[in-house]
Amino acid sequence: MRIKIKKKYEISENLTTPQTIYKHRRQILKTMGILGLGGALDLFNPLNAKDINKQVHTQTIDIKNTPYPYTTNPNYSQTPITPYAKASTYNNFYEFGLQKDDPYHRAKVLQTSPWSVVIDGEVHQEITISLEDILKKFPLQERIYHLRCVEAWSMNIPWIGFELGSLLALSRPKGNAKFVLFQTAVQEQMPAVKNPALGGYIKFPYQEGLRLDEAMCPLTLLAVGMYGKELPPQNGAPLRLVVPWKYGFKSIKSIVRITLVETMPTSTWMRLDPSEYGFYANVNPQVAHPRWSQAKERFMGEGFGFSYIPTQMFNGYSEVVGRLYAKMDLKKNF
Ligand code: MTE
Repeated sequence: MRIKIKKKYEISENLTTPQTIYKHRRQILKTMGILGLGGALDLFNPLNAKDINKQVHTQTIDIKNTPYPYTTNPNYSQTPITPYAKASTYNNFYEFGLQKDDPYHRAKVLQTSPWSVVIDGEVHQEITISLEDILKKFPLQERIYHLRCVEAWSMNIPWIGFELGSLLALSRPKGNAKFVLFQTAVQEQMPAVKNPALGGYIKFPYQEGLRLDEAMCPLTLLAVGMYGKELPPQNGAPLRLVVPWKYGFKSIKSIVRITLVETMPTSTWMRLDPSEYGFYANVNPQVAHPRWSQAKERFMGEGFGFSYIPTQMFNGYSEVVGRLYAKMDLKKNF
């Protein structure tokens, strides 16, 4: 199915980084002697949207030194793109600590090879599939999605992956399968597994859930890469979920198990505080978090700091997913 997404997130000039900040950044780079060194500057200025949209031809991504082809899907486009340097250093991955830069500093210990995923539960065909086989089976595409965290910050990230629905179809879900439960790997060298205090005593494995129709929605991606590279560990290598119309915590990282179930599963955040984090977690500017408004968000683009932009219903993806919730009270089912 061909889906045309309106570019609701093209941010108007006055909402992007103020010129003074931009100039300040240039000044700092100049002082550091970085400006003018093409390679070094790359870190601060990775891809820009125009370039990506031109890249409709096939490129390759190196995953554990094996090149896999991918094509850019121009129907999923957002500008401006958040620099790679931010998307890979400002993360939530509580298995590695509570601070935003903990995953960047600590996730190198994540063992990502060999990797396989089990699909079980209410299926006709239980499957254990290696990452290599997944990569051979499912053609990869690049899509730029808007990521909106429940904490009210946001980014535009070019993911490389494939639709979750095509993997689930292999297992042939039974008629009574209504929900999908996802689990992250638990590895003993993860700092918060070794020392639960470092992860705020969150109980691992981190787990998340979707309704089956949400999981089969063509927007729902399993990502193996971002910005033309394999996923770095802090972003959920080697395989993570991306559900762009839901708050970021639904996009579970480093997945090892996918279980089809009959009843609504309890996710990590529901277990931590059901009054603050619901199962659906659809981005909704009209339903405030008990402790803050969700009407606006801090967009992380180029330069220092954030720019405030209005939050869109379903994160701007209403045309595709609005019908999934047509008869639901979204205040109750937050
Ligand atoms: N997955 C696992 N296993 N552990 C986590 O702590 N954090 C979630 C989600 N997936 C998390 C996780 C949250 S709160 C967010 S906002 C996103 O990952 C952040 O993804 P990013 O770090 O790639 O931006």
